[in-house]
Amino acid sequence: MKVIKLGGSIITHKESYKKINKDLLGKLCDVLSENKEEWILIHGAGSFGHIMALKYGLEKPGSIKGKGKAISKVVSDVLTLNSVIIEYLNERGINAISVPPHVIYNFGKPDFTAVKSLTDKGFVPVLFGDIIMNKGRYRIISGDEIALDLSRVFRPESVAFITDVDGLFDSDPKANKNARFIPLIKARDISVVDTGRDATGSMAGKMKRIKKMMSYTSRVVVLNGNRPERLRNYLRGKESTLTVIE
Ligand code: IPE
Repeated sequence: MKVIKLGGSIITHKESYKKINKDLLGKLCDVLSENKEEWILIHGAGSFGHIMALKYGLEKPGSIKGKGKAISKVVSDVLTLNSVIIEYLNERGINAISVPPHVIYNFGKPDFTAVKSLTDKGFVPVLFGDIIMNKGRYRIISGDEIALDLSRVFRPESVAFITDVDGLFDSDPKANKNARFIPLIKARDISVVDTGRDATGSMAGKMKRIKKMMSYTSRVVVLNGNRPERLRNYLRGKESTLTVIE
């Protein structure tokens, strides 16, 4: 089984509230529809989540009191994105079904029974970065954290992060033109450097989770979704520009 996370910055225009990058989403779904193996999809929230989450001050966990309206607005927005993605997948012959994290998570362990039962029946479960709640408190959960939890339970052969950069670099490629690309790295050699802020901690959070994930899968890849052929090559086991973490 493969776990694949489509980053929010690749499927949406991150600065424009609720704007989907339809052309690219379509191309990525075309490629995903060629995959015949068992897989689980997670997608990020992009401009359907981060903009309002920051505006309403939801990026830190807190009491639901006084935040109910903001929480239901953000959850409603991410569900809108989710339903568009499911539609794109369905149109391409992938039998995708939504599994909303706010239903199967409390703050403790998630209950992945629904995910298992869908994969057993041949469906592709689709989860997403969301807001989860327990005992009067809420917190945002990123798709990356869900990827880690799924890995712990399903022990996938590999986990792929489809991002807006080619893979890992020795410094932030968006800030530093001389950043050096890293095609292959051992998890223990990854050092976590914070590069920016969004509602779920950006690249640093991703790196921390990838390090933990390596206990449950033998391979994590980070690749650039702006070049859909790289996703195709990865799915077909062909060589491509991407970072492999082993
Ligand atoms: C964010 O999920 C969830 C919300 C802001 C509600 P992710 O952290 O997985 O989203 P992206 O991939 O960064 O957009």
